[in-house]
Amino acid sequence: MAIIGKDIRLAKEFLQKGQLVGIPTETVYGLAGNALDEKVVLSIFETKNRPSFDPLIVHTDSVEKLSDLVSEIPDAAYKLSQTFWPGPLTLLLPKKTSIPDLVTSGLDTVAVRIPNHPLTLELLRALDFPLAAPSANPFGYISPTNAQHVDQQLGEKIPYILDGGECGIGIESTIIGFIDGVPTIYRLGGLAIEDIESVVGEVALMAHSSSNPQAPGMLKSHYAPKKPFFLTNRNNFPVYEDDFGYLLFDKFIEGIDKKNQKILSPTGNLKEAAHNLFAYLRALDALSLSQIWAEPVQDIDLGKAINDRLKRAAAVD
Ligand code: TXA
Ligand code: MG
Repeated sequence: MAIIGKDIRLAKEFLQKGQLVGIPTETVYGLAGNALDEKVVLSIFETKNRPSFDPLIVHTDSVEKLSDLVSEIPDAAYKLSQTFWPGPLTLLLPKKTSIPDLVTSGLDTVAVRIPNHPLTLELLRALDFPLAAPSANPFGYISPTNAQHVDQQLGEKIPYILDGGECGIGIESTIIGFIDGVPTIYRLGGLAIEDIESVVGEVALMAHSSSNPQAPGMLKSHYAPKKPFFLTNRNNFPVYEDDFGYLLFDKFIEGIDKKNQKILSPTGNLKEAAHNLFAYLRALDALSLSQIWAEPVQDIDLGKAINDRLKRAAAVD
């Protein structure tokens, strides 16, 4: 098991020695290591069991430091960074050669973000290198939203987890790239499209792909619980059996044991639903159930990113 604590100095020491540390962010916990050290980056892929064609996000604490990592910041990217950083936004920008090719899986853009968590920002300020950090879960499983989730799955493999409590937002950052100058969403996430469009106008949405390495991060089957998981409207759920579990938006289904039902937000609040999504999926996955049935949430704002996660959790390939 890893040590879990709030000691930034200790976290820094492990990272300087080339080891990996679990770090809190406002979205999900990350599995962090020195982004400029190829050996360390390789160990991130190994620790997560992640295929090398799926590139990592590089985390830093200021736009000034970004100029060491990227060769160009288009106007739209700069505007977005000024409005939403620190925050749940990742930008794909042309990389400098200081970033190992392993980080970007050979692509010429690097994913960068300034996360909004006080402990991690302080840690990043104390380090003289940026942190590569994928979500701190084994590849394909549900992302962790507290230090215990990280410990349960990767605790044997890493020395330290910086405990920043529960992640406020609860789903990963929104990823935006620029194709012929047009802001394009590569992954829906914790920053709603509506908010992005209020700053840069209409954005394009990249289509999902199951296995195309040109569009990494878009693997269909992802965020998946271990149990069979199905997504459909509640009127289409099969006849209840007492070992079925349910992940529901805002109200219980009458006549079904409440302990098998998780309500993402009793008031129908999409922020609250995003915050609870992964923790509730994990909780259902840990009960002795044979199947989990989920219903989509309202498809606006953060609801789009929630539905994206639910679809991918239910995907078979
Ligand atoms: O909220 C988050 O973004 C969290 C926290 C820890 O910051 N991180 C996260 O990392 O979700 P990860 O590795 O689980 O997801 C990063 C996604 C991957 O799907 C990857 O394919 C995509 O970002 N990505 C990274 N670099 C890319 C690039 N150059 N082009 C396209 N997609 C990229
Ligand atoms: Mg991930």
